[in-house]
Amino acid sequence: MKVLVIGSGGREHALVWKLAQSPSVDEIYAAPGNGGTETDSFKNVPIAADDIAGLVDFAKKNRIDLVVPGPELPLTLGICDKMKEAGIDCFGPDAYCAQLEGSKSFAKDVMAAAGVPTAACRVFDDLDKASGYVRQKGAPLVVKADGLASGKGVVVAQSVEEALAACEDMLGKGKFGAAGSRVVIEEMLPGEEVSLLCVCDGEEAWPLPSAQDHKAVFDGDNGPNTGGMGAYSPAPLLPDENLTEMAAKVAEPILREMKKRGHPFVGVLYAGLMIGPEGAKVLEYNARFGDPECQPLLMRLEGDLAALLKSCAQGRMDKNSVSFDKRSALGVVLAAEGYPGSYPKGMEISGLEQAEALDGVKVFHGGTKAENGKLVSSGGRVLCVTALGDTLGEARKQAYAALGKIEMPQSFNRTDIGGKGIARLARRQ
Ligand code: AMP
Ligand code: GLY
Repeated sequence: MKVLVIGSGGREHALVWKLAQSPSVDEIYAAPGNGGTETDSFKNVPIAADDIAGLVDFAKKNRIDLVVPGPELPLTLGICDKMKEAGIDCFGPDAYCAQLEGSKSFAKDVMAAAGVPTAACRVFDDLDKASGYVRQKGAPLVVKADGLASGKGVVVAQSVEEALAACEDMLGKGKFGAAGSRVVIEEMLPGEEVSLLCVCDGEEAWPLPSAQDHKAVFDGDNGPNTGGMGAYSPAPLLPDENLTEMAAKVAEPILREMKKRGHPFVGVLYAGLMIGPEGAKVLEYNARFGDPECQPLLMRLEGDLAALLKSCAQGRMDKNSVSFDKRSALGVVLAAEGYPGSYPKGMEISGLEQAEALDGVKVFHGGTKAENGKLVSSGGRVLCVTALGDTLGEARKQAYAALGKIEMPQSFNRTDIGGKGIARLARRQ
């Protein structure tokens, strides 16, 4: 089959890499792709991820059999609806279901209807009312822009002043534009975070092994939030034996609710969970694979990914087409200095071959492009250096060893990816 992967990050490189191993796949295109998704066999096509008409046109003309959108934007813009209208299988939710990620108030409403545990919240469109609520509740509080804000629209406020400033930024000053013209204010939940990604065909939510992201930019979870500085799987916080029970709590009720609303959920339902004293509560849903969670997860996936995704797009999931390697996988992001703020581009990258010569290592490209025969950086999260290991500790050792072979000026990485998981395992011994 011919596959079109939409997006240009590390997640999309991992998807292309794994789909290329599917016996059923003959051709893969990435739109717009990056320096890793263009190989001798596979091509990038210069169509932006939000150019829905252009993507549908390309898919029709090239007789694409399966479309796999990576990021959230094309999903909320209705890429799956439009592909379906054109008779093309698309592994992702329709625009209605994608609101689970695209609107935090919509997600809260669905969670309430479905009986999924989450933080208590109130929704506001009005600055005075929001501020009044903040003063009445007191800190700590979490203020969230309702719409998509590239992971930057959430303020965990430790003081009333901070929460008021966040409301003022979003509702008063229009910091996130329309995405912040409505805010969700919720209680702060204590605990540790973990990601549960379920592959869905509209009827069934199949939990993949757990993963843990590292959202803060610096070691020790310090500094502003990013898209994710590294991830590993499985997370000892959510072991394999608890996956089915967790999916029954946080994913299956959502699928039932969406089906009831006439919009069966197809694609990846990603639950961001806080595991605390009262058990698991949902912080957010994403309607797609996580980046960088996808990279270690796909390192562990064995079998025919294309067959799995195609069967889901057709509403008849075939789980038998894939299984998971028992080993751990861990990915470390190499970022450009300044990220998640402004950062330089065009730095030359070398040492990838030496890194990938190490056992069980794969380097996924995030923000790279080929220029005059060289590989240069073109984004904030440039690479995700990922390794498999018999234990989480081994995977971490190997990923950092591989990272050590790579050179790029004006770059940095977190040095503590996997630290919480390794500490948890040590406490158990
Ligand atoms: P979200 O985009 O909703 O997942 O929020 C981004 C990050 O903010 C999460 O990964 C958490 O670290 C933090 N966060 C969001 N909501 C809460 C909450 N209710 N309590 C504590 N931390 C939160
Ligand atoms: N790594 C978090 C996300 O993809 O949203």
